[in-house]
Amino acid sequence: MRRIGVVTAGGDAPGMNAAIRSIVRVAIFHGLKVLGVERGYAGLIEGQVHPLDSRSVSGIINRGGTILRTARCEEIKTSQGIQEVKNTLKASGIDGLIVIGGGGSFKAASEVHEASGLPIVGVPATIDNDVAGTDTTIGFDTAINTALFTIDRIRDTATSHERVFVVEVMGRKRGFLAVEVGLAEGAEFILIPEIKYNLEDICRKLEQGRRKSKTSQIIVMAEGAGNSAAIVEQIERETGYEVRLTVLGHAQRGGPPTARSRILANQFGAYAVELLLKGAKKNMVGIKGRRIVSVDLDYTWKERKDLDMSRYRLAEILSS
Ligand code: F6P
Repeated sequence: MRRIGVVTAGGDAPGMNAAIRSIVRVAIFHGLKVLGVERGYAGLIEGQVHPLDSRSVSGIINRGGTILRTARCEEIKTSQGIQEVKNTLKASGIDGLIVIGGGGSFKAASEVHEASGLPIVGVPATIDNDVAGTDTTIGFDTAINTALFTIDRIRDTATSHERVFVVEVMGRKRGFLAVEVGLAEGAEFILIPEIKYNLEDICRKLEQGRRKSKTSQIIVMAEGAGNSAAIVEQIERETGYEVRLTVLGHAQRGGPPTARSRILANQFGAYAVELLLKGAKKNMVGIKGRRIVSVDLDYTWKERKDLDMSRYRLAEILSS
């Protein structure tokens, strides 16, 4: 192993830059050369690869986004795309690749490995936390805190106006982000794709809340749990309350990473390089409890990660 490549793929996540910095500096420490790939798999297809040195990753540990940029790339889902990636990797003399991204990026990485035999290590980074094999992903903690920052402010105005708010958070098809945000915010309700909900029931409970002198009620809803605008309409219709919708959207994906996201990125990046040096073929780094671990790359996107239902139930009890 003499020269490694690093690429950020899929949706960006705060802490990706800290991971790039860690990979570059740990690789240089071990005498390796590092090539950065621009624009995710699109850049790998188009051969947008350039050397990274210690100075090229200065001043980025605290910056959200990714200095390498990223892209949603449809072409990587085709055999032609995989072949072109294989060509770029060969032409650049890359002996091992580190892919920083989520489940979709790791699926593609597995296919690139199958086609090329090139050692690949994944570093999980997504605000959705929906990657199996790791308790948490780079960016997840930051996105929770970013959402809380805004919802704390929503609570103030909701209370002043005695309104109900539906706040839609990201998470794709999963409710990891919504559960953490809802629990930390003291949300009255959390709607997630993993649990069926009954809106009529929720309306009755909102009315009970009013009777108990609740001045504001916040429903944190995962984007995958339904149509938030339609839910707002139905609640207004059934209760007659003033209901407002806030869709947090991409604001959750930006901003400086929290200490937790940065430290995780430092540890994941370092371990990814070490795994390549130890001869790993197709792995992902992860964290289990306080231990940094290595798991098979296929497992990370084939398996469905369990949601911690005890947190959801606790949020329900605490919202009374
Ligand atoms: O995977 C991260 C994520 O932010 C999801 O939560 C969201 O569904 C999706 O990406 C949005 O993707 P895009 O930025 O391509 O619209």
